[in-house]
This record gives sequence, C-alpha cells and structure tokens, in this order.
Amino acid sequence: MTGLVFKAIASLAAVATVGTASVIDPRSSLNAFIQKQRAVSLQGALSNIGPNGSQVPGAGAGYIVASPSTTNPDYFYTWTRDGALTMKMIVDEFILGKKDLQIYIEDYLHAQAALQTITNPSGTFLPSGTGLGEPKYKVDGTRYNGAWGRPQRDGPALRAIALITYSNWLVAHGQKARAKTVIWPIISNDLSYIGQYWNSTGFDLWEEVNGSSFFTTQNQYRALVEGTHLATALGVNCTGCDQASDVQCFLQQAYWNGEYFVANINIDTGRTGKDANSILGPISVFDINAKCDDLSIQPCNSRGLSNFKALIDSFRNATLYPINKDIAKDKGIAVGRYTEDVYFGGNPWYLITAAAAEYLYDAVAQWKVQGSLIIDETSIAFFKDIYPSAQAKTYKRTTPEFSRILSAITAYADSFAAVVQQYTPQNGSLSEQFNRTAPGAPVSARDLTWSYAAFVTMAERRAGQFPPSWVPADPHHPPRAEQCAPASPPKGVYVPAIAAGAPNVTATCTSTVLFQVNASTYYGENVYVAGSSTDLGAWDLGNAWPLDATGYTAERPLWTGRVAMTAGETVTYAYARMEDCDQEPIWETVNRTLVVPACNEADSGEIRLETDDQWTGPLGSSGECPGSGTG
Ligand SMILES: *[C@@H]1O[C@H](CO)[C@@H](O)[C@H](O)[C@H]1NC(C)=O
Ligand SMILES: *[C@@H]1O[C@H](CO)[C@@H](O)[C@H](O)[C@H]1NC(C)=O
Ligand SMILES: *[C@@H]1O[C@H](CO)[C@@H](O)[C@H](O)[C@H]1NC(C)=O
Ligand SMILES: *[C@@H]1O[C@H](CO)[C@@H](O)[C@H](O)[C@H]1NC(C)=O
Ligand SMILES: *[C@@H]1O[C@H](CO)[C@@H](O)[C@H](O)[C@H]1NC(C)=O
Ligand SMILES: *[C@@H]1O[C@H](CO)[C@@H](O)[C@H](O)[C@H]1NC(C)=O
Ligand SMILES: *[C@@H]1O[C@H](CO)[C@@H](O)[C@H](O)[C@H]1NC(C)=O
Ligand SMILES: *[C@@H]1O[C@H](CO)[C@@H](O)[C@H](O)[C@H]1NC(C)=O
Ligand SMILES: *[C@@H]1O[C@H](CO)[C@@H](O)[C@H](O)[C@H]1NC(C)=O
Ligand SMILES: *[C@@H]1O[C@H](CO)[C@@H](O)[C@H](O)[C@H]1NC(C)=O
Repeated sequence: MTGLVFKAIASLAAVATVGTASVIDPRSSLNAFIQKQRAVSLQGALSNIGPNGSQVPGAGAGYIVASPSTTNPDYFYTWTRDGALTMKMIVDEFILGKKDLQIYIEDYLHAQAALQTITNPSGTFLPSGTGLGEPKYKVDGTRYNGAWGRPQRDGPALRAIALITYSNWLVAHGQKARAKTVIWPIISNDLSYIGQYWNSTGFDLWEEVNGSSFFTTQNQYRALVEGTHLATALGVNCTGCDQASDVQCFLQQAYWNGEYFVANINIDTGRTGKDANSILGPISVFDINAKCDDLSIQPCNSRGLSNFKALIDSFRNATLYPINKDIAKDKGIAVGRYTEDVYFGGNPWYLITAAAAEYLYDAVAQWKVQGSLIIDETSIAFFKDIYPSAQAKTYKRTTPEFSRILSAITAYADSFAAVVQQYTPQNGSLSEQFNRTAPGAPVSARDLTWSYAAFVTMAERRAGQFPPSWVPADPHHPPRAEQCAPASPPKGVYVPAIAAGAPNVTATCTSTVLFQVNASTYYGENVYVAGSSTDLGAWDLGNAWPLDATGYTAERPLWTGRVAMTAGETVTYAYARMEDCDQEPIWETVNRTLVVPACNEADSGEIRLETDDQWTGPLGSSGECPGSGTG
C-alpha cells in the first residue's frame, strides 16, 4: 500500500520540480503542496495503526504506534497522548465525510477499553484509576516496564475529547444507545481520573517536567465541560465533571505572567517557560463559534496572541536556529518545543511549525464568524509585527482594515505552512524534527504519526474545515476570581468498560515491594527482576522489571525496583542481567521466594516489604558491543 503511495508522490514531486523552473505564484505552489501532503499525511498516520498498518507489523487492532522507528529513537510504542490526538484528527475527518475511517475509530475504542484496565508502573485501574496516567504501552497493548516520566495526565483528557466528539456524532445520528452503553463507560473513567487528579503534578507533554502543564490543564478543562454536556444528553451522571470551574480558575490564574503562559508551573524548570505547549493547547480546544474571551483560551484570545508572539520571537534567533536567519518578523519561521531544548541537539519540529499555521488560521476563522476584531493592549504587539498601523480598538467587519488585517494574518499563517513545505522531503515523509542548521534535513524518529496528524488538521483549517463546536452556546462566566479557592478533588468511580471489550477486572489489593540486589555490573549492563506472578512478568524477560542503578556506588553495587504486587501471593523470582548488544541474558543460578504482605486499603504506594539480595550466578563481561561503532 505504502509503495503505491510513494510512487504516486514521486511523480507528483517531479511535476512540481519542473513547475518551479518558471515563475509561479508561491500561494499556488503552497496550495498544490498542501493538497498533496494532506493525502500523504493521512495515509502516513493510517500506516502506523494496527492491525493492518503497513509500517507497524505486530501492532494490535486500534493501537496507534508513535513511529515505525525502533532505534535511535525507539518510538515503537503506543502513547496515549499521541494516539488520542491522532484519533481526534481521524474522528474529525470521518465527520467531514471520510466514512471509511469509522473502522479505525471502532478499533481504537475497543483497544482503549482494554488498555484502561492494564496494571502498569503508574498503578492499577482499580480501585483508584492510577494506572490511567500511564503514558505509553507496547504495541500489543501490554505494559511497558522501563523507566519513564510518569504519570502523564493529559492522556485521559485527550482520549475523552476524541471519544466525546465521536459520541456526539452517534447521538446526532440516531445511535444514542450505543454511545451510552459502549463508549460512555470508557469516557467516564477518564473524566473520573481528570476530576480526581487535575490538582496533582505529573509529567508534561514532552515527558520531561514533573509539575503542572498548561496544555494538560487546558485539555482537562475542555474534557470536563464537554463531558458534562454529553452526560446530560445521555442521561448519566459524570463523576469529576463538577471540577470544571476549579480547573478553569486554575487555567486562568496560574499560568499567565503578563506576557505569556508559563508552560510548566509548580516546578522550577530553570527555563523561560515559553514553550510550544501553549500553542498546541489552544488549537486542541479550538471552537470556531467560541468568543475570543471564552475561559477556555481560544486561539483568538488576546493573551493567547501575546503568548504566540513571545514563543515565536524566542525562535527568531539565528544563533539558536541558523535556518531562521534573516527572516522578517511578519514571516513564519521554523519552530521548536522551547529554546533550551537539547533533545537531538534541539531542533524545530514539523508538528509545531504546522501548529503555528493552524493557530493563526483558527484565529482568523473566529474573527470572521464574530464579525469583529478587538485589539487591546495585551495583543497589540502581536498585530503590529504583521500590520504596523494596527491600533488597540475594535475593527468591525464593515471596515476595510478588518479584511486587510485578516489577510495579513492569513498570509502570516501561510508563511509557516511554507516553512513546512520547504523542509519536507520530496516523498512527503514527515519525521519528528528537521535540523536547525541548513539544509534542514529530517532528524529523529521517521514517519512520526503526530507530525502527520498535525499536518492534516492544519490543512483542514486552511481549507475552511472545522471540528464540531464544544463550547456551550451560552457559557456561564463567573466573575474572574482574585484567587482560586482551594480544590478538593473527589474520588473517581472506575468501572471496566466491558461492553467495549474491557476484561472484567476486579480490585486487587496490592502491596509495594522494594527489590534490592547487590550486583556488580559493567557499564552497559542492566539488571532485571522476573518471577512467577504476572506482576513479575511470568518469567518473561520482555515483561520483567528493569532495576534502577541510581543508588549504585563503589561501596555498594545496588540495583533497586519498586513493584506493586498482589497481596498474599507466594512468588518465585530471580534476577537477570542483560548487556546492551543483544547478547544472551544471564540468569541467576538460584530461584528465590517471597510472600507479598497484606496491603493497606488506601492504595498509597507505601513500601511493605524490602528484599536484601546478593547476585548469585555468573558475572557479565564488558558491555562494549564487539565490532560496532555505535551504541
Ligand atoms: C484489517 O484487515 C482485516 C482483514 O483483511 C479486515 O477485516 C479489517 O477490516 C482491516 N482493518 C482495518 C482497520 O483496515
Ligand atoms: C491546585 O489548585 C490550586 C488552586 O487553583 C493551585 O493554587 C495549585 O497550584 C494547584 N496545584 C496543582 C499541583 O495543580
Ligand atoms: C513529582 O512531583 C511530586 C511533587 O509535586 C512528587 O511527589 C513526585 O514524587 C514526583 N514524581 C517523580 C516521578 O519525580
Ligand atoms: C445520579 O446521581 C444521583 C445523586 O447521587 C442519583 O440519585 C441518580 O440515581 C444518579 N443517576 C444515574 C443515572 O446514575
Ligand atoms: C540566541 O540563542 C543563543 C544560543 O542558544 C543564546 O545564547 C542567546 O542568548 C539567544 N539570544 C537571545 C536574544 O535570546
Ligand atoms: C544537523 O546538521 C549539522 C550540520 O550539518 C550536523 O553537525 C548535526 O549533527 C545535525 N544534527 C542532527 C541531530 O542530525
Ligand atoms: C523519504 O525521504 C527521506 C529523506 O530523503 C528518506 O530518509 C526516507 O527514507 C524516504 N522514505 C521513503 C519511504 O522512501
Ligand atoms: C464481573 O465480575 C464480577 C465479580 O467476579 C461479577 O460479579 C460480575 O457479574 C461480572 N460482570 C460481568 C458483566 O460479567
Ligand atoms: C527458576 O524457575 C523457572 C520457572 O519455573 C525455571 O525455568 C528456572 O529454570 C528456575 N531456575 C533455577 C535456577 O532453578
Ligand atoms: C549488600 O550490600 C550492603 C552494603 O555493602 C550490605 O550491607 C548487605 O548485607 C549486602 N546484602 C547482601 C545480601 O549481601
């Protein structure tokens, strides 16, 4: 399937190359590129979805793989966030008319119903939903035990948003009963999780910072508001939805610093806080019919526009991004995550540069619907860069300036899309990043599903296609509080979504065991604990727990791991060591036994048993991979 697609692109690309020899209108070149690349991008995303995706053999039905790349970096996993954002794009495309996409939505919701119940390093599904914060799973829907930035609390919100959008469509098309009995139970778990944990810290969308994240809070707010309305339509209760106004207050008060939204708070990141986080959030909650002062912080929001300028200007730095050298301030540039980024050297991302264009198309569409454009002291600096004679006042639709300003912003949006065009390879393949240094070659994971999804949504907006509205027509706007009241999040209600295919799991009482083993290792060797229970991977090293060497010293070669285990079980276990060059694993020559102590009801994660073990078995050899220059 992919082979055919790429052949078709190659011939189109050849035409485009011939075309550039004569003088052509850059906008028509951009039109042609976007039309072609939109189709490539939709197919690129679908090719990364199991069970039939040509790029992802082995992925289960409905599991959206982040990228086919298995080394440097290994993204061959399914992330709840990336998957949900991709599924939202697919649901929107389905509603816009691509009815053959429905099978992907159905596969996804069945897969997610099962995934919700999987015990993982973030916790369990029952009794307290902690497992829903797990950011990523293996592509067959089993847990990933490796060290990671967890929990991440945006995943349940984004998944709820995608499934609510689909459920609203079902309700409007005579399938309310199905939405209620099959899909609502999945959504309800996610809304319970948001209600219970929105006021707890977690890792941000870039998986680096453990704090409160603007993107996460904004999506949580949308999910709770939409969830309230869907619950009413279906005649069910929503546990957690009553937190919407507290979340809204937090979103409004906590992140804004007078110029931009500080992306991560309740943590000292040592960064400026200007982060693409805060433009990805507004496009995720975009509603064409919402007012610019809606409390959800829409793209046309004055603070949002000031924030947009602050973020983009931070990348107008030729020392940081040489490919942005000498680009005028009314023209789009290549945009990355945040200027202090060092991942793969710190480069612009396709999905973020496309998001900058999408953001501006969204704002223009909103002003057109509203028939007026209010420029105020907060947003004036944004407008002056693009339309120097802009003033802080209201421009009505009937004035010539209204259309001139909107045309200027549309051209500005197009210039970001043109940057994506400039750095997209001829075959249309979108990686995660492109090099900040000319010629701007693709960097990091190839064929990133999120890059493709972001391109499609940007192309929709440019084509005047908008997702369904979600902001209530008459939103109740309480006066802005001086200070948010202290929150008291309720405990959620978690029930496996059996009608959608979840296994009928029941609450198990778990106790946390701290495994500790003295094991001298070479650099490059890792130590795992495996054992007879499912908690310990049933002797499958691929599902065993990697131990952490943070406490390893010359005096004590300590490897440790915390594992939540079913209380009362008698378990046989052993340690194994693995080097990093695919050598055979080395197992201990003894099997050990422990009895997991009784748990406490509170699900607190407190350690109930510590082992004190000494590695017993052969030692490893130097981890340097023979005959290989790279790691
Ligand atoms: C995957 O392939 C099977 C067998 O041809 C088919 O029944 C199923 O509908 C396909 N699923 C998707 C999502 O294309
Ligand atoms: C919890 O909510 C309060 C009130 O909005 C806020 O001040 C605090 O920073 C929040 N903490 C977290 C971790 O969300
Ligand atoms: C994240 O921060 C909270 C405090 O806000 C802390 O309790 C928790 O242990 C941290 N988690 C990790 C994995 O560092
Ligand atoms: C919703 O909650 C109310 C109050 O707890 C309860 O009386 C009612 O039965 C619930 N409705 C449903 C559909 O569960
Ligand atoms: C531009 O980027 C360089 C390299 O990261 C940095 O040292 C410098 O401070 C930046 N300049 C401005 C004005 O932010
Ligand atoms: C980006 O390009 C520069 C210059 O060619 C090169 O030195 C660097 O390694 C590239 N970065 C990555 C991550 O490929
Ligand atoms: C597409 O082009 C890029 C950059 O030239 C290349 O790395 C990649 O392998 C190509 N992909 C396919 C499927 O041909
Ligand atoms: C799920 O399991 C519980 C306890 O074993 C049982 O009571 C309940 O009927 C089961 N539910 C379904 C739908 O099978
Ligand atoms: C430990 O138990 C496993 C599973 O029964 C078995 O495969 C393995 O050989 C045992 N190891 C030793 C050293 O007895
Ligand atoms: C592991 O090392 C520590 C520190 O040297 C020591 O106190 C402890 O007894 C050792 N454990 C075993 C089982 O040998």
